[in-house]
Amino acid sequence: MDRVRIGLAGCGSVSGSYLPHLAGSAYADVVAVCDVDMSRAERSAEQHGVAQAFDDVTSMLDGAEFDLFLNTTAMPAHRELNHLALTAGKHVYCEKPIATSYEDGLALVELAETSGLELWGAPNVVLSPQFAYLRELIHGRALGRVCAAHASYGHAGPSWGPWFYGKDGGSLFDLGVYNVTTLTGLLGPAEGVVALSGTAVAEREVDGAMLRAVADDNTMLLIDHGNTVFSHVQTGFVYRAQRGDRSMEFIGTEGAANLLGYDWGPAGVEVWDTASGAWDTRCEDAHGYCWQSGAAYVAECLVKGVEPMMTGAHALHVLEVMTAAKVSAAHGVRMPVESTFELSAPTA
Ligand SMILES: NC(=O)c1ccc[n+]([C@@H]2O[C@H](COP(=O)([O-])OP(=O)(O)OC[C@H]3O[C@@H](n4cnc5c(N)ncnc54)[C@H](O)[C@@H]3O)[C@@H](O)[C@H]2O)c1
Repeated sequence: MDRVRIGLAGCGSVSGSYLPHLAGSAYADVVAVCDVDMSRAERSAEQHGVAQAFDDVTSMLDGAEFDLFLNTTAMPAHRELNHLALTAGKHVYCEKPIATSYEDGLALVELAETSGLELWGAPNVVLSPQFAYLRELIHGRALGRVCAAHASYGHAGPSWGPWFYGKDGGSLFDLGVYNVTTLTGLLGPAEGVVALSGTAVAEREVDGAMLRAVADDNTMLLIDHGNTVFSHVQTGFVYRAQRGDRSMEFIGTEGAANLLGYDWGPAGVEVWDTASGAWDTRCEDAHGYCWQSGAAYVAECLVKGVEPMMTGAHALHVLEVMTAAKVSAAHGVRMPVESTFELSAPTA
């Protein structure tokens, strides 16, 4: 395969970042787009030079020839559309999360495996040079033993997409998911979680109309990575302002490191230099990494026949952590996490 043909579903906000990025890929061609709102599909096709537009995924699967299904629809639609695409023999790259329950996510991963297909889930944070640098620092023991980390990511909440505030939405699935992916990627799979979570702002104005929010918009999640390694994620749609210049901190017995910027848009790694007794900024170049580059990356891996660092197993693990957090918060209990994953070395 020289180039991967992509069929994209969901021509909303995020597709406006994926489509221009994919247009610059040497390994992928978007050959079809679809949206339940046909006017959006047609507009996207026209703006981005895509040959075919459809008003539902089944018609796109029947009417277009492609290799990779790119799912950028609203979260509540992810499971069903991923299932349709896998059943039709397509590889899948899905915006987060791959499904909204762990059981559904597990069934999708198993379906992909038994069908000889790949299923990948955003976010692609493990691909950034800053992630690789932190991984080397932590695994190489440059900070001693890193037993503690914290991360925070929030904003005031999307002004579009009522589903962000419905039962399958919320700030943990939309925003905290980045930090959970980074923390489990760097400190290892979670063994258990404890969370506090709730809906702090019940009335929201979305797409120009008032709605009653039921999704949690304020979550504090504690993760036990085993071996007395703990991290926490604070995330919400209730943050009017936040310092995003140091959004994650990794604290070791012999040093510490901060991620500068957010993990989806990293700007460097700040390391405590014990010899000089000062913070030293390193790894400031993103080398082309951006949060919307995951689909182009997996297309490159498919063409080159290399194993991507991103895996369905990691996406599924992150989904289990987030769904376990919901149960923990609702019932006031620590929840075990059963799934696991392995993170390979960078390949492409
Ligand atoms: N907007 C962002 O900045 C951003 C950034 C990163 C990730 N994401 C993720 O991207 C996904 C989409 O977010 P968004 O902000 O673009 O949402 P959006 O509401 O702007 O767009 C979603 C689109 O999906 C379409 N859709 C819904 N169900 C469908 C179905 N069954 N078949 C075909 N089309 C369907 C809707 O009509 C809409 O056009 C979410 O998973 C979100 O978490 C969004």
